[in-house]
Amino acid sequence: MARGGKAKPMQGFRIHLASMLLALVCAQAASASNTTKGDKAFGEYLSSLCVTCHQITGRATGGIPPIIAWPDDQFIAVMNSYRNKDRENLVMRNIAAPLTDEEIAALAAYFGSLPYQPAP
Ligand code: HEC
Repeated sequence: MARGGKAKPMQGFRIHLASMLLALVCAQAASASNTTKGDKAFGEYLSSLCVTCHQITGRATGGIPPIIAWPDDQFIAVMNSYRNKDRENLVMRNIAAPLTDEEIAALAAYFGSLPYQPAP
């Protein structure tokens, strides 16, 4: 960038900066509305942490309950109760502990969208 002196290039820079800030604010507003519903694609990515135990078919296996097709708020409430250590279960407490609200909302959106698959 040109150094010092002329007012015009500097003014141009200010306007550019202002529009960049505006874009940033808009991007943040957009991502804030994403977290309320949960990002399904992100949830699918995170689900690799879960599907070693929980079946995506919705079938229960060896004492591991199905977690699909739940309403988002119910899924989020249960995950929060493991994270807050209100619910007993060492495995799920340890799994929920490091998850952020955004990650739990994403998992809720993904697992909530899966349909039950009948046993073959
Ligand atoms: C090591 C195996 C294992 C993994 C991995 C695992 N879970 Fe679990 N999960 C369990 C078991 C066992 C229970 C039953 C716990 C109980 O009785 O409270 C459970 C219970 C749950 C429940 C409550 C089900 C109900 O009917 O009350 C939810 C929701 C859940 N898990 C979500 C997840 C999510 C999301 C992940 C991945 C981030 C995950 N689990 C990873 C073993 C696992």
